[in-house]
Amino acid sequence: MSEVFVVSGPAEAGEYVAEILARAITTNPETVLGLATGSTPLPIYAALAEKVRTEGIDVSRVSGFALDEYVGIDPAHDQSYHHVIDAEVTQTLGLNPERVHVPSGNPETLESAGTAYEDAIRAAGGVDWQILGIGANGHIGFNEPGSPLDSLTRRVPLTEQTREDNARFFETIDEVPRHAITQGVGTILRAGHLFLLAFGAHKADAVARAINGPISPEIPASAIQSHPHVTVLLDAAAAAGL
Ligand code: GLP
Repeated sequence: MSEVFVVSGPAEAGEYVAEILARAITTNPETVLGLATGSTPLPIYAALAEKVRTEGIDVSRVSGFALDEYVGIDPAHDQSYHHVIDAEVTQTLGLNPERVHVPSGNPETLESAGTAYEDAIRAAGGVDWQILGIGANGHIGFNEPGSPLDSLTRRVPLTEQTREDNARFFETIDEVPRHAITQGVGTILRAGHLFLLAFGAHKADAVARAINGPISPEIPASAIQSHPHVTVLLDAAAAAGL
């Protein structure tokens, strides 16, 4: 693993990553971004959108691949990751929607959706820069504890903790899907560079185990230790266990 920075908060972390991504896109207009949902990466998207606007960066050939999607959710539902990625990334940054991919959570095509997604990532030349949040239980994407470290895009069950953590986005917890389709830990590790961001005391334990604990499927985020190019950005509360 490469570097761990403790920053003042989400805004500074977002600005830091956005600056690197802006330079990368300027150098390579066909940059492939790995996109995370959740609240953590939002400051990156906001800061990058601001740079795209003010610096006139051409993003028309940038591609994006989301990490995951709920199974069985209508893509038009405001909590589907299709919708979230479209609203928070595609539209905010002004990306070409045809170049932004989210795995399909359609239950009828799940068998082939994982392979199709892996093929699409490969066809785009692989993810250059992967943005990651972390679940309070150490998940990345929706790779819950126990996920094989060489896993690829597939259907996974969600833990009750993750459903409870994400219930705030739904009317009731019963509406939170029980399964998801997610890039695997192995898929994520193929990206050229990983950014993992975490803010708040509720992430401190997962962060400490991901960075200092043994590399283990029990903390899927610990797999980042085996990647040669990783930048971890934390606020003081999330770094408290280091
Ligand atoms: C979600 C997503 C993850 C995300 C995590 C943390 O369940 N599948 O990709 O990193 O939970 O979310 P947040 O950033 O809102 O804390």
